[in-house]
Amino acid sequence: MRMVDIIIKKRDGRALSAAEIDWFVAEYTAGNIPDYQAAALMMAIYLQGMNRQETVEMTLAMARSGEMLDLHDVVPFVVDKHSSGGVGDKTTLAVQPAVAACGVPVGKMSGRGLGSSGGTLDKMESFPGWSSALTLAQYKRQLAEIGVVLAGQTGDLAPADGKLYALRDVTGTVSTMPLIAASIMSKKLATGADAILLDVKMGSGAFMHTVEDARQLARIMVDIGNDAGRKTVALISDMNQPLGHAIGNALEVKEALETLRGGGPPDFVEHCLTTAGHMLLLAGKAGDLAEAKGMVTAVFQNGAALQKFRQLVEAQGGDPAPVDNPDLLLQAAYVEPILAPRDGVIAAMDTGKIGWACVHLGGGRLVKTDEIDHAVGFVFPAKVGDWYVAGDILGYIHANDPDKLTRSRQELLDALMWTEEPAEPLPHFYGVVE
Ligand code: URA
Repeated sequence: MRMVDIIIKKRDGRALSAAEIDWFVAEYTAGNIPDYQAAALMMAIYLQGMNRQETVEMTLAMARSGEMLDLHDVVPFVVDKHSSGGVGDKTTLAVQPAVAACGVPVGKMSGRGLGSSGGTLDKMESFPGWSSALTLAQYKRQLAEIGVVLAGQTGDLAPADGKLYALRDVTGTVSTMPLIAASIMSKKLATGADAILLDVKMGSGAFMHTVEDARQLARIMVDIGNDAGRKTVALISDMNQPLGHAIGNALEVKEALETLRGGGPPDFVEHCLTTAGHMLLLAGKAGDLAEAKGMVTAVFQNGAALQKFRQLVEAQGGDPAPVDNPDLLLQAAYVEPILAPRDGVIAAMDTGKIGWACVHLGGGRLVKTDEIDHAVGFVFPAKVGDWYVAGDILGYIHANDPDKLTRSRQELLDALMWTEEPAEPLPHFYGVVE
């Protein structure tokens, strides 16, 4: 086969065969196809789409690009979760240890920042020394020993996603349903969880902008999971404003730590309770969602979830000192307020723009080789429906460069739409796909 023929076929809107998809995934993973040809194919898929069969083939080829873990020799039942990506979405940091503290092992493969959306691995690397590059043996041992493990794509586990994910991040090819579905579900299938809770975001800061699109993405991922014998459920959740208050790696870690201590912003806490609650339901640990949420609240309040998080940091080589003293996390040189430019009510936010403002501060990547600045970002409690007077403090910007501070603060302000009328607060969730 020749790569150029596959690019042309997709560019012209024709469906790729299973053999072509398998060949591309295997050869790209092996380093035999250059990034520029893979990027051209990603863009052709972005523009022309993939049908259901192609999406399933792409997912399976990517999952099989490395080992497919079977965890049953170390634990009887493993649950996993994955978000389709959003701004301020630090849910895994709080939910994974909480569910593990409730007695359900959580083995998870996460990603880095993608476009305007932050990534769990970048956030966790705010702990000096912490590493997501685990061997299969380490992954299994850690799951058996402490019931919680958080890996990145490696040469052994979903390597095709590792390479394509980094390429899509910097080639404008993230927000397309087949590539998101294949990326997420290949990771989930490769790491061998028995049950998967998907958090599919919709709104101005998500890759899916309507409930309908989010439902469609959820449907295909739930079907792929269930066909592969994994109990899979998706929540459709709101991303028309940042989740919680913090946006940016170390700032989000701080907020997750507050939540693990029984505090945290109400919208983020509600999101964590519902997400973790559904994971406990999938594992058969609770009779209904209310009971499951009660169990999660208890481990946030009694210190068990925080202790599990401390173990997760330590087991993967991180310095756990910031768990007990978050002020030890990297701090930005400049912290300045963001002031309301006028009287009025926040009617809506372009949340993607807020995510990009954080990337432009240095909190994400514009090219593959960019280093992340973990300290920068926003603490921005303002929500749709909130009323302000000109000059009120909407939040704070944390920056290491005065020019970037000025530009990103303006970018954030430009992302806000104002009204004189009252505006309804946004819902947290739009439904469940089973
Ligand atoms: N999360 C992933 O793992 N992959 C995507 O493509 C989007 C979100």
